[in-house]
Amino acid sequence: MVKPLIAPSILASDFANLGCDCHRVIDAGADWLHIDVMDGHFVPNITLGQPIITSLRKSVGRPNDQTAKHKAFFDCHMMVENPENWVSDFVKAGADQFTFHYETTKNPLELIKLIKSFGIKAACAIKPGTPVDVLFELAPFLDMALVMTVEPGFGGQKFMPDMMSKVETLRRMYPNLNIQVDGGLGKETIPYAAKAGANVIVAGTSVFTAKDPADVISFMKEEVRK
Ligand code: DX5
Ligand code: ZN
Repeated sequence: MVKPLIAPSILASDFANLGCDCHRVIDAGADWLHIDVMDGHFVPNITLGQPIITSLRKSVGRPNDQTAKHKAFFDCHMMVENPENWVSDFVKAGADQFTFHYETTKNPLELIKLIKSFGIKAACAIKPGTPVDVLFELAPFLDMALVMTVEPGFGGQKFMPDMMSKVETLRRMYPNLNIQVDGGLGKETIPYAAKAGANVIVAGTSVFTAKDPADVISFMKEEVRK
């Protein structure tokens, strides 16, 4: 059985107070930190890179770190062309998982092998226009599949319910796979994603701008458990 994992997207944080903002959502029950890396080529936006992840890693310990006060799994969503060029640098910066986009590579199986050779988890994302079938041959080698529920590029967009049939298909075929949804998730939309079978929930705006992030996070976990 897969478990609910909530991954606030730091894109919605206050970057001037990134460390404190992350501590706040971890204290509120966040399991992962979702780190959106955009290169201005694969998507029409630029966000952040290794230096910021390296700094953040110093103030947020690894999940198995016994001494750290705040710990989280760093889930790096790589919206970049030529993702194979970045694996080693992001591992050094502190990534726990490297999610590449199916649309950006000619040889996804080789890329999965490369990511795993560094001892971190490998995941593959598909844009809304990409059919779910492309994941079938990769799924046995993946730690997670990411079904985008908005066009990648920006936070704060509207959830696309049509994507839920992809999640349903994947869940039916792979009962133990982590299935992530990303874009427009919050208290209103989580019931659709949870019912379809998603268990890893990215939530930027809805968590970072909430008065009570713990309430939003526990609500979402409960929906996934139902
Ligand atoms: C979009 C990013 C998302 C986004 C989610 O390209 O991959 O992770 O930041 O933000 P919200 O939850 O605000 O839609
Ligand atoms: Zn993302």
